[in-house]
Amino acid sequence: MGPWPGRVAVWGLYAAYYWRSDQGWCASKFASVSFDVSAGSYLRFMGQYSEPLAPLFAGLAGIADGQRVLDVGCGPGALTVELVSRVGAASVSAAEPSASFAAAVRERLPGVEVRHTAAERLPFADGTFDAALAQLVVHFMADPVQGLREMGRVTRPGGMVAACVWDHAGGRGPLAAFWSAVRQLDPVAEDESGLAGVREGHLASLFTQAGLDRAAVTTLTVRVRHASFDEWWERFTLGVGPAGAYVASLSPGHRTALREQCQRLLPLAGPVDITATAWAATSRTS
Ligand SMILES: C[S@@+](CC[C@H](N)C(=O)[O-])C[C@H]1O[C@@H](n2cnc3c(N)ncnc32)[C@H](O)[C@@H]1O
Repeated sequence: MGPWPGRVAVWGLYAAYYWRSDQGWCASKFASVSFDVSAGSYLRFMGQYSEPLAPLFAGLAGIADGQRVLDVGCGPGALTVELVSRVGAASVSAAEPSASFAAAVRERLPGVEVRHTAAERLPFADGTFDAALAQLVVHFMADPVQGLREMGRVTRPGGMVAACVWDHAGGRGPLAAFWSAVRQLDPVAEDESGLAGVREGHLASLFTQAGLDRAAVTTLTVRVRHASFDEWWERFTLGVGPAGAYVASLSPGHRTALREQCQRLLPLAGPVDITATAWAATSRTS
């Protein structure tokens, strides 16, 4: 088997990506083709984690009936569903640069205003919302500080800006076993531990740089049971996110080797239980 090709191929996919939003052409190195996947694939891959995370995150942000709220980077709607259950569809707006995800939320949640756009250029007037939330999005923004600044701008004074990202750098994210296996086979592979906000203290630092002072930081933890190793692994073959892009970049032989390496790190038989922890920051706008 030849050298591991993942690094070049993955970053090739991520090099530069342009898309047409409500505000014209935008560019991002991370709003990449990896999220140009079906809503079903995303929900099978990460939705299993982001769905149980959503009520914890919305609760932390104090989302309650009577508020008008914005879901930034809504994906196929894991958090949007939770927000609708708390405040009603007419009081929820969502922003999402992936056309397939935006369409999925429009179909799934009629009544929610869904805008095809990135966080860095939100098409809303100053102070429109009581709260703006971004669940598992900041680390994929092309400019996280600008994205958070925009979330603060569209939130009324005294309102809530909240964001959470997996603790990829601390090895507590839902993909920790996968990236461990990758690094054992391919020590130079680019994993997700270098992304914005995923290491301790960095999310609060991004909030401060965005003018969102006194951010309170905590962690949110979910536990997910996969029926078997096969079910756990199959999700990585769907092409979603950096992990899916990495697997897609491998030859069949390298893919088999990676699967076997993952098997050495996880239970051989029975269910696979994964505990996943996210950093979560909240700040009141001034
Ligand atoms: C890991 S998914 C999270 C989706 C959803 N919030 C959830 O919790 O399931 C990351 C999402 O961020 C979106 N995204 C990427 N870059 C973005 C940006 N600059 N602004 C807003 N959303 C972005 C992606 O299209 C994708 O839907």
